[in-house]
Amino acid sequence: MKKVLFFSDFGIDDNIAVLYAFFNKEIDLVGVVADYGNVSKQDALRNAAYLQKLTGRPDVPAFAGAELPLTGDPPEYVPDVHGIEGLGPIIPDIDVDYTLENFHGIQEIIEKNPDDIIIVNVGRLSSLAAAFILYPETMKKVKDFYIMGGAFNEPGNVTPVAEANFYGDPYAANIVLTQAKQPVKIIPLNVTSGAIVTPALINELDEHYHTIGSEVGKLVKPMFDYYYKFYKERDPELTGAPLHDVLTLWALIKEDHVVSLEIPVKIVVNKGEAFGQSIGDFRNSIDKAEYPVHKVAINFSYTEFIKDFFTTMKNSQ
Ligand code: BDR
Ligand code: CA
Repeated sequence: MKKVLFFSDFGIDDNIAVLYAFFNKEIDLVGVVADYGNVSKQDALRNAAYLQKLTGRPDVPAFAGAELPLTGDPPEYVPDVHGIEGLGPIIPDIDVDYTLENFHGIQEIIEKNPDDIIIVNVGRLSSLAAAFILYPETMKKVKDFYIMGGAFNEPGNVTPVAEANFYGDPYAANIVLTQAKQPVKIIPLNVTSGAIVTPALINELDEHYHTIGSEVGKLVKPMFDYYYKFYKERDPELTGAPLHDVLTLWALIKEDHVVSLEIPVKIVVNKGEAFGQSIGDFRNSIDKAEYPVHKVAINFSYTEFIKDFFTTMKNSQ
């Protein structure tokens, strides 16, 4: 089992990724960090608690993450894509004590499991950067980092060149990519955009949830339909919607089915047209740029992804 500490901004693909992690027999979810991003930090924490309740997993601690980027700019939430509360059309009836688990708790988890914790970050990188600032020694004991972020040699989804998770806090992304002691596994937008899940597959899962009386039946299809509608309006040719954050988790358990390149990576932190852009040096030459080297995914097996997604999501009780 892989011990995963999951940093997320609890929008729709994030929430499906959390369910995927709960249901995956190869993942031991040791905690989630609820960050601002797609929604506010408070909504993210509430969504974490809602997912714990639906899946009967209150044992997985939810830590309060960041509520602002290190840039000092006000956060911009994304209701068009993820719904007003990050759950598509759903407004959950649950109250949560938002200060239940203090962020410092993540340090204890890492210290108790040296070189065994894999951090997966699928939102802005503000909390993860804060962990490097606050606990530099502890962060050296993290086994691996997987990050959904950036767009390499293809358009971004916020600006022509920048992807949402990096654009939302490029200072934080820069801290993480310069301070990690090992190459970070980056699963960028140009790759995750291929993780298309169709409405037909979701309908099949929905039927399954209703047949077995699973509580997640309340959530998966309504959230997905909302998310798909947004993508379909933007690109009528799409046959489904990309589950960016699920692919990032999948990449860590099915590494053999992901093609990556170790290349120098830089984040543009100067305000201007390229703010938040991720630049990878893909040149085939010995005089590559002197940025820190990271492992950037360039392709994956779609067939394997879909097969595994469907099987795993059916594991719901
Ligand atoms: C990323 O931004 C969010 O909308 C998604 O949850 C994903 O993490 C894609 O750019
Ligand atoms: Ca996300």
